[in-house]
Amino acid sequence: MGIDLVRGAHHLTLSVGGAQEDYDFHARVLGLRSVKKTVLFDGELPVYHLYYGNGLGDASTLLTTFPYRQHGWKGRPGSNQAKTIKLTVPADSLNFWAERFDTLGIEYSDGRLFGTDRLFFRHPCGIEYALVGEREPDERAPWSGGGVPAEHAIRGAHGLTISAIDPREMVEFLTEGLGAKKLDSEGTTELFELGNTGHGKQIELVAEPDVMPATWRFGEGTVHHFAIDVNNPEDQQEVKDWLNGMGYTDVSERKDRRYFYSCYVRSPSGALFELAYSRPEGFLLDEVEDELGSSFQLPPHLENRRQELISQLEAIDTGAG
Ligand SMILES: [Fe+2]
Repeated sequence: MGIDLVRGAHHLTLSVGGAQEDYDFHARVLGLRSVKKTVLFDGELPVYHLYYGNGLGDASTLLTTFPYRQHGWKGRPGSNQAKTIKLTVPADSLNFWAERFDTLGIEYSDGRLFGTDRLFFRHPCGIEYALVGEREPDERAPWSGGGVPAEHAIRGAHGLTISAIDPREMVEFLTEGLGAKKLDSEGTTELFELGNTGHGKQIELVAEPDVMPATWRFGEGTVHHFAIDVNNPEDQQEVKDWLNGMGYTDVSERKDRRYFYSCYVRSPSGALFELAYSRPEGFLLDEVEDELGSSFQLPPHLENRRQELISQLEAIDTGAG
């Protein structure tokens, strides 16, 4: 498989708690743009699918969430699962973020790993986040929102940290299955780079042999999956065929996610990966740029259930704030 088929992150998806709590955290604390409000297309229960990113929700700037609290579905964090959402900010902006967290009463700690300074904090549902200060230039267009000026804005995904009881099989999946390069190791954490182009490429794999495994199903407080950007249907098929040929035969069929197309594969560490490519229209498929995320969008096959779904979902106040 050519390493150029894989282009870092497309999006990262989490099962969170309440919808309003999630909106407030991503839009009002982290200053991301709400670029789409729709529903999860899988399963019987009505659950929001909320998308946050930069102005257009470009690949690698996207965080997406399923607020499961209203159905009482709880997850349990732990090993053999994705662990920490890593987001890129300019290195010189970490002080801005520390002061902002102080002002907003967000608990955080700081640290340094693989030569980058970081702020560690949590989503209100408990999922670990890290702002990673990058000195390298980042051409992703920043969104200025929630009181965060563009110069300090989160640029998008830096990558993901995955916890494994035994990382060995996962190293093979990353390097031989997805063509990642091992860049470094520090303590019990190994650093891999996923693809030559794109962003959100930094996958960190931490050995946690004494930590109980996490849950995999949808459930508040857990990362659900990491979507890799494979750019187009041909490259998606080639990566899928390559993984099948290695014996990872549980790569799913291609699913229409309306704004992009997805195949899913469970990795040996337990973390769920997705191979995604965007439709050319992206999130402009059903809303104009100025109005992205402002109204509830449904695919045509669910449009006849609009009122029923709205009545069953928590209302989200997206007013200025
Ligand atoms: Fe996804």
